[in-house]
Amino acid sequence: VKDQRIAGITSAIRVIPDFPKPGILFQDITTLLLDVKAFKDAIDLFVERYKGKNITVVAGIEARGFIFGPPIALAIGAKFVPLRKPRKLPGPVISEEYSLEYGTDKIEMHIGAVHEGERVLIIDDLIATGGTLCAAIKLLERVGAEVVECACVIELPELKGKDKLGCKPLFVLVSSD
Ligand code: PRP
Repeated sequence: VKDQRIAGITSAIRVIPDFPKPGILFQDITTLLLDVKAFKDAIDLFVERYKGKNITVVAGIEARGFIFGPPIALAIGAKFVPLRKPRKLPGPVISEEYSLEYGTDKIEMHIGAVHEGERVLIIDDLIATGGTLCAAIKLLERVGAEVVECACVIELPELKGKDKLGCKPLFVLVSSD
């Protein structure tokens, strides 16, 4: 049974055509943040799923994973670790490259933020091709952490990003097709 709260979350997400370039239907979560009930419902749905699962780290992906990650981390009693774009973190980092449509990008994590054996939830606002989440999983596994699940507010199922995550489970609130 689909949770009643999903409908409110879905309708609070604004879809903007041709942003940032022609042909892209941009999923804008800033309108979800304006809707106090829908934003809280989204956080609650994640917290209900992950509370009591011995997760010690919520790793959020820049930029919008930084919006959803911290309230979830606080509610389940986990630490929050930012996974950032290159050259943003001031301390020593490990980084993982991933490919884009044209060229490559990187995400980075502070060395020492996550320890071997820790149980991690990775959070972002959206999964498209899955390249970003795939790189995040690799980063965490390189330090010996266990990625329990990846969670996103929105999935674009046509892009089959889930296939890039290997056997890692993906939990999404809204599928946009
Ligand atoms: C978006 C989104 C995810 C990523 C998903 O971020 O917030 O992080 O793309 O794409 P993928 O599944 O194809 O890897 P964006 O690149 O817009 O960066 P930003 O959050 O810094 O604006």
